[in-house]
Amino acid sequence: MTLIRIKRFHPESDDKPAWQEFDVETRHNTTVLQALELIRERQDATLSWRSSCRMGVCGSCAMLINGQPALACNTRVHNVDEVRITLAPLANFSVIKDLVTDLGPAFEHHRRLKPYMIRDDREKIGKERRELAQTPAELLEFLQFSYCMKCCACISACPTVALSANFPGPMPLAQAQRYNADSRDDGFDERADAIEERTDLAHCHYAGECSRVCPNGVDPARAIQLMKREMVMDLLGSRRTSPATLVDVISADTPAEVGESLKPPPRTVVPDR
Ligand code: FES
Repeated sequence: MTLIRIKRFHPESDDKPAWQEFDVETRHNTTVLQALELIRERQDATLSWRSSCRMGVCGSCAMLINGQPALACNTRVHNVDEVRITLAPLANFSVIKDLVTDLGPAFEHHRRLKPYMIRDDREKIGKERRELAQTPAELLEFLQFSYCMKCCACISACPTVALSANFPGPMPLAQAQRYNADSRDDGFDERADAIEERTDLAHCHYAGECSRVCPNGVDPARAIQLMKREMVMDLLGSRRTSPATLVDVISADTPAEVGESLKPPPRTVVPDR
């Protein structure tokens, strides 16, 4: 039996948040998400949270589990504390209801920083039997940032976001850097304008909490430092400025050792006791 304390709040009807406790029959492999489902089925049908895939892919079930941002479907109750755990909505977001937060501001920053390929010749691509060639080394410049599932755990852990709502936070900045670092992209100037318009990147003081809590092993703190370096190099006029150009289709086998280095980073999983 596990005592689960949940921070509950419905802004439309409550004055302030309040903690509610539930005793839940848990087994060694019960996930936090399954415990929430048991509560809703047997004790309180009004409890609200967000989830979808149930397998650590969509990122929608992120919440604070004993004060740490984590995925409910990817966390076993007994790996945290089989006697007593607390669940609360992600920090740095306003609450819609109970464990459901409003992620809208984060995705507004994400959209504003143009996380997609920008090129002048986009209409040509796909029409010609030519491709934008990229070496394995160039792919590795951005690959790990593409594993972000947008769960926003990193933003919840960021002390800079806690102090300034204008700071976009790790996820939007890492996704901007994912494209800045792509040798096929030519959108650095547009993204730099969008960042400078409302953000002082130097506000990131490299606490590194975003990278520590990422359930997918992505390193947004590194992305932000790389972005700072690119901006300084741009000021000094020493940044790479011409993107890859269309070339005839190349067919080449990927060497085994390169394929190995392209595997996703290890996921954050609390080991069994
Ligand atoms: Fe999709 Fe948890 S429900 S990541």
